[in-house]
Amino acid sequence: MTIPDVTARGLGVPGVPGLSGAGVTAVPGSTAVLPTVPANSASADPASADSAPADSAPPAAAPGAGALPQLQPPGFSPESARRDIPILHRTVNGHPLVWLDNGATTQKPRQVIEALGAYYGAANSNIHRGAHTMAREATQMYEAGRSAVAEFLGAGSPDDIVFVRGTTEAINLVAQSWGRANLGPGDDILVAVLEHHSDIVPWQLIAKETRARVVPIPLTPEGAIDQDAYADLLSSRTQLVAVSHASNVLGTVPPVKEMTALAHRYGAKVLVDGAQAVAHFPVDVQDLDADFYAFSGHKLFAPTGIGALYAKPEILRSMRPWQGGGNMIESVDFSRTTFAPVPHLLEAGTGHISGVVGLLAALNWFTSFDREAVAAYESALMTYAQQALSTVPGLEVLGSAPERIAVLTFTLAGQDPAGIADWLDRDGIAIRAGHHCAQPALAHYGLESAARASLALYNTSEEVDQLVTSLRRLQEAPEEVR
Ligand code: ALA
Repeated sequence: MTIPDVTARGLGVPGVPGLSGAGVTAVPGSTAVLPTVPANSASADPASADSAPADSAPPAAAPGAGALPQLQPPGFSPESARRDIPILHRTVNGHPLVWLDNGATTQKPRQVIEALGAYYGAANSNIHRGAHTMAREATQMYEAGRSAVAEFLGAGSPDDIVFVRGTTEAINLVAQSWGRANLGPGDDILVAVLEHHSDIVPWQLIAKETRARVVPIPLTPEGAIDQDAYADLLSSRTQLVAVSHASNVLGTVPPVKEMTALAHRYGAKVLVDGAQAVAHFPVDVQDLDADFYAFSGHKLFAPTGIGALYAKPEILRSMRPWQGGGNMIESVDFSRTTFAPVPHLLEAGTGHISGVVGLLAALNWFTSFDREAVAAYESALMTYAQQALSTVPGLEVLGSAPERIAVLTFTLAGQDPAGIADWLDRDGIAIRAGHHCAQPALAHYGLESAARASLALYNTSEEVDQLVTSLRRLQEAPEEVR
């Protein structure tokens, strides 16, 4: 196995890319400048960065290539993203990596990797405290990250954005802060059956404490949210509706805007889990009229451990602290403590400053592409993948809702999902197998486990072909070589 040199030097990049856009172009007033590089600028020499080591196998031949339509990228080339992502040029088990586990996490462009190095190499400081230049610079970068997130989500103000570890923490924050203050005996929290565990369990925990009820919203056989059942479940008891903007296991994109409008008629609030959505299609929280919207940076080409919660300003201002500590106070006295305004009120302790820097770099990178063209490309790739996978004997894809992101969860007759993942891994192909942290969604299909290929903008039809070739070989392989 060869791990490419992903440093600026290894990539042949002169200097260190800076944090462009969102108001930050350099470390202000410092000689340790993080030079600005236009987002998504041409990468290092692709010949050196992209070249697969000598031991890598040639790409597998397309399965039944003649039978499949050729993918026509409408206005977007995955190569323009791939060239920025060093890890996509490594090998795994002697084969070029085929990363089809984007639902679990996305790979990082060099702009993000190098922004982290530049931050720690030239700009590290704590924020919002300390009367020195470095603290001011770091604070500026952190708040520029907040502005960039607000713009990315279509929020009205950076003050509507709370930094959190990720979607899970965002939902727990809402459950513990808003939920504790607003839920009581007899109240209903409607939660779609396709939700990730992180959008189920926090509600169960707070429901138990407040004696509210968690009520599942059923799915149709296609894996869409049953809208008639949803309308029937809504009532004056409904305080909150929790729904994913895209399912991590079925790919379903529910009609969140319409569901939100309906919930609001009953006075209920709506929390949208955007973890799987933000990397696939543009989001506008004000157009959705969402009360809360959460996402994780690491599923959006940014580092792990950083994410964001959007909340409507009037709701955010009504929220009580859920954790106490530094940063969230105005003054502390044993007789009386006063608090900082939101969003700082909900960000106790030192935040993930470098994570925000990385998130800012990721947003700069991602938004440099034509988002509509990316969505169209992914949709075409999904159609291609569905057709290609249909040629694998015994393969069944879960879910066929009309609106879906490029997530293909499947079973293969005679094969256990963990065995499928292991077989594909031998060919350098990474997928996820298991319950996908969405056991109720799998139970809807009578399953405890399944295999999942989840695609991103940098995946190609050739990679889909490699997946299909490997799966066909698995189906043909004698027992003893599996
Ligand atoms: N929620 C992530 C997934 O779906 C981890 O794989």
